[in-house]
Amino acid sequence: MQQLAELYPQHIDVMQSRTREALSREGIEGLIIHSGQAKRKFLDDNHYPFAVNPQFKAWVPVIDNPNCWLIVNGVDKPKLIFYRPKDFWHKVPPVPTEYWANQFELVLLAEANAVEKHLPYDRSKYAYIGEYLEVAQALGFAHINPDRVMHYLHYHRAYKTDYELACMRNANRAAVAGHNAAADAFAAGESEFDISLAYNKAVRQGDNQLPYTSIIALNENAAILHYMDLEVSKPDAHRSFLIDAGAQCNGYAADITRTYCADREHPFAELIQHMDKVTLSLVDMLKPGMDYSEIHFSAHRQIAQILADVGLVNLDAAGILEKGIGKTFFPHGIGHFLGLQVHDVAGHVADDWGTPKPAPHEHPFLRTTRTIEARQVFTIEPGLYFIDSLLADLKSTPESKYINWDQVDVYRPYGGIRIEDNVIVHRDKNENMTRDLGLN
Ligand code: GLY
Ligand code: MN
Ligand code: MN
Repeated sequence: MQQLAELYPQHIDVMQSRTREALSREGIEGLIIHSGQAKRKFLDDNHYPFAVNPQFKAWVPVIDNPNCWLIVNGVDKPKLIFYRPKDFWHKVPPVPTEYWANQFELVLLAEANAVEKHLPYDRSKYAYIGEYLEVAQALGFAHINPDRVMHYLHYHRAYKTDYELACMRNANRAAVAGHNAAADAFAAGESEFDISLAYNKAVRQGDNQLPYTSIIALNENAAILHYMDLEVSKPDAHRSFLIDAGAQCNGYAADITRTYCADREHPFAELIQHMDKVTLSLVDMLKPGMDYSEIHFSAHRQIAQILADVGLVNLDAAGILEKGIGKTFFPHGIGHFLGLQVHDVAGHVADDWGTPKPAPHEHPFLRTTRTIEARQVFTIEPGLYFIDSLLADLKSTPESKYINWDQVDVYRPYGGIRIEDNVIVHRDKNENMTRDLGLN
């Protein structure tokens, strides 16, 4: 916390300067940023877990309080309208006194719908930034999430301040503790459900605090890219384990994947070793000035080489690439921006005006095409899977004759592999937070 306290004022300076530029592009006087509202379940009196507006948590490390508002113009001290209802049913957040609070002019709000008197009287010159369009309209905002403002803020969010990088290292540290505990639980023969409990216990975060639903997959389940069930009972055998799970600090995410094989002599264990080298070599490739798409293309070349080397495909790497066979085994993108959102924004734009730079036609799942630059944070997550439906598609094509199907069946009960690290690009080096914090 000491370090975050020291770094936070400079973060606010950066946010102020981005705000000034965004406002000048739109010709408006300020932004009014809404943290959000609690969402009630249909015909129920329970609420969904609260997910704060990312534009709000970009300023304030408050991620659990609806009905808060920020008024910023890039010049004056930002004003934080902080919700503190009288409520004996729920915990009421304390009056903020932490390191960040003195960066704001603080106003306490006891009733959510009494906010109007704290907002500027003439709201036609201000933009509402938030999810609740009907609230913005009722309050008389003329500008609601204006494009030029959003493009500018989203584009620049890719460049993390020192405070944000410190938060992301903390998130990685927590997630690494969880991954180590989960690996132990797998080695002890636990069920998916119990491995998940071991993970949360070590991270010290509950499901609603984690940045995304953990993927805890044993055996064939590792072939389901977004497997989010948790089998309560133990499987007959513990062959393999894929865990894609994160943690957060002040709303900044970690997003880490590891894959394990119980039998170290099995060919699947060797395949994991090969994929680990791919991850590390791609991390080394990240370099300011390079197109992130190049990392994805290199992943395809390296995975094609592995498919040839282990005899899954009876072609050389060039032949595998030429025939597009690799996409059956590696069907997703190589990674993405990481930050306030797990898949952080503005991966598909060329500039801060929002000029589109879409994923290449042949690689539709690539989540960023941006030029790599210092202060950006990426995941690198190559995968190699044995997915029944994609293998069946491949079997029905002329390329089927190149596939060593007996070999495929050796790996199929193991599901698949993904190895995902979180990396800060600096001007002169890459910082692999995940490895630096001790996860191999
Ligand atoms: N955990 C989601 C992803 O790896 O992108
Ligand atoms: Mn992941
Ligand atoms: Mn990811």
